[in-house]
Amino acid sequence: MNAMTKGRMMTVPENPTVGEYRAVSLDGRRFQFTAALESALESGSFVILRSETEAVQLGQVDDVSISHGDTLRGAGRILGAVSEGGTLDSRHSFPFAAAEIEHADAKTIELMHGNTVNPLVIGSYLSSEHIPACLLPNRFNRHTFWCGQSGSGKTYALGVVLEQILLHTSLPMVIFDPNADFVRLREPNLGGGQPAASSSIAARDIRILRPGSADPDSLRVRFTELSLPSQAAVLRLHSLEDRAEYNELVHLEQSLGTLASELIVPNLRERETTAATALAARIENLQVTDWEIWAGGASNVITVTDVIESRPDATVLDLGGFSYPDESLVVAMAVLEDLWAKREQRRPILIVIDEAHNLCSSEQNSPLNVAVRERIIQIAAEGRKFGLWLLLSTQRPSRVHPSIISQCDNLALMKMTSPADLDELATIFGFVPAAMLARSPSFRQGEALFAGGFVPAPALVSMGARLTQEGGADVSVPMRS
Ligand SMILES: Nc1ncnc2c1ncn2[C@@H]1O[C@H](COP(=O)(O)OP(=O)(O)O)[C@@H](O)[C@H]1O
Ligand SMILES: [Mg+2]
Repeated sequence: MNAMTKGRMMTVPENPTVGEYRAVSLDGRRFQFTAALESALESGSFVILRSETEAVQLGQVDDVSISHGDTLRGAGRILGAVSEGGTLDSRHSFPFAAAEIEHADAKTIELMHGNTVNPLVIGSYLSSEHIPACLLPNRFNRHTFWCGQSGSGKTYALGVVLEQILLHTSLPMVIFDPNADFVRLREPNLGGGQPAASSSIAARDIRILRPGSADPDSLRVRFTELSLPSQAAVLRLHSLEDRAEYNELVHLEQSLGTLASELIVPNLRERETTAATALAARIENLQVTDWEIWAGGASNVITVTDVIESRPDATVLDLGGFSYPDESLVVAMAVLEDLWAKREQRRPILIVIDEAHNLCSSEQNSPLNVAVRERIIQIAAEGRKFGLWLLLSTQRPSRVHPSIISQCDNLALMKMTSPADLDELATIFGFVPAAMLARSPSFRQGEALFAGGFVPAPALVSMGARLTQEGGADVSVPMRS
């Protein structure tokens, strides 16, 4: 008998119990198989295993090697039994002495989504390019780690996923966008072939906050809304080593809310105490009052936390346009501190941080860097149950604090060639089949491995096209005509 699926065919012998081309499972959990080279089975392939009794199970190949020149040998996991009624029971699977093995068709693969109402279609499987690959939207209630080297297509792919979340869920998101990549999320990409979906996303309540924009879209923080330790971190003050200045800050804080930023330094100097003069000099030297970010004394200025408090569908924080590097850290501090302070409200929000090493680095040790990192570590450890879910993207996993990565249940991995980084990921995300991880160095741009709770089984995916406009596409070299 020849088992056929569209575009893919593998030859299974007349009697599958004899000859080389068959699968066997001794424990009902894993299977081993041999198959013809033309079967094109590869790590990640979904397969139907049909045993002698005609019972059908869905499986996934995780490892393949070539032997005897023209025969594939491999192994995989059984994902569950397919009932006649057309459901997948992932809690039951059984051993078999011999089974036919063939590429699974789209309908059988879809059974993996169970009764998920709107699986998020993000592209197609590498092993079957005509079958849509999906993420489970209800599993974004976990932290997600996204990595791949620069240019692997992380930001583009992240955009594809965020668009689907916007389209199918009402989960609000805040996006820390250091390269202005998401500032055109409101503009449909009408050339993408899905004009209705593109327009629906563009019609969502999406706020783009940037430094220098006119109100209400300016990206502003009120200094007095930061906690005292965060204010001290901005001024690089230590509570004991800089006792007198710190104490001056404690008192200053009470009057600061009513002061315009240009009056703070004169106001301190007027006090004529040593500590106040020292604090004034510190503020001047750090040029803190020049920062564009401060909302100043006026109470009618809308700050970033005010905007997020109203829970737009998406709030994009364009962090690229600041003159001082610490300003984006202050935005992060203000937002994360506010979300954490209100955690008991349990209002879910997806906190998306692109280039997460900027905010979570284990190497940066300025007081502000430490404060932001500690806050993210805290949200990673305890935020989940309060609805504070992180989605962190980076090119260098080793530069993100390990205690943050270890709290992530979902993994998206794009092309990455660094063996050290891959080893680290293999250790942290032990549930990802090694052979699938090992494919990462040969990924092309836009290809990704998804594993963890947000996929029913680890998936090798070729990402689909964006539905809205990309903000920061690569600039091309100008050519002479
Ligand atoms: N799946 C894709 N389809 C089309 N273009 C892509 C795709 N992925 C990435 N690109 C393009 O490649 C460039 C780099 O991608 P980007 O997502 O910014 O990479 P990264 O964030 O990993 O550095 C961008 O100009 C982007 O438009
Ligand atoms: Mg990027």
